[in-house]
Amino acid sequence: MEVRKARLQDAQEIFELVNSLSGDGTLLKRQFAEICENVRDFTIALSDTGVFLGCGALHLYGPHLAEVRSIVMKPGAKGKGAGGRVLKALLKEAEEHGIQSVCLFTRIPDFFFKYGFRTVEDKAELPDKIFKDCQSCPRLHRCDEVAMVRGKIPKTSILGQRQVARQLVGLS
Ligand SMILES: CC(C)(COP(=O)(O)OP(=O)(O)OC[C@H]1O[C@@H](n2cnc3c(N)ncnc32)[C@H](O)[C@@H]1OP(=O)(O)O)[C@@H](O)C(=O)NCCC(=O)NCCS
Repeated sequence: MEVRKARLQDAQEIFELVNSLSGDGTLLKRQFAEICENVRDFTIALSDTGVFLGCGALHLYGPHLAEVRSIVMKPGAKGKGAGGRVLKALLKEAEEHGIQSVCLFTRIPDFFFKYGFRTVEDKAELPDKIFKDCQSCPRLHRCDEVAMVRGKIPKTSILGQRQVARQLVGLS
């Protein structure tokens, strides 16, 4: 198995796999243009024969925070260690950027517990994520995802204030 940074030639397979799980809300829907624009965020796993197995992305908010997004393996590739290897590569990438805090929203916290993530009770503690995705999400007030962070919750934010995020998610 090989785990490496994605190239533009991988964008079509990433697009198809990510959107195959966007219908039920497991992953956020992504436009092809958005995948191409952000393809350098992605890391992919390939079989020994070069077959695409899956992907994950690291989005950089700033020096204070990054987010793991769009992590998904093809159904036939699950349970063989590829997802864990992609996640570790994304965490290493965050470290190389000097970022101590990595967040994500998920329905499968048990997978992420294994890699040092813990749950965050108040989603507004991650205002950057609220402003980037949640405020335009149809499930904003019936979100069934768990917020998680690895490292400290950052005190600063870059896309908006914590207090406004709190109002958006309806906690004050
Ligand atoms: C989550 C996902 C990426 C994991 O990839 P994978 O290749 O199957 O995972 P791995 O084989 O590397 O498993 C690594 C470890 O995590 C565990 N694990 C895998 N999926 C898990 C899950 N859904 N819940 C809890 N633990 C899980 C494995 O048992 C393994 O544990 P071990 O090291 O103690 O043996 C994959 O199941 C997937 O594509 N799921 C659907 C998309 C999804 O929900 N993505 C998350 C969005 S936030």
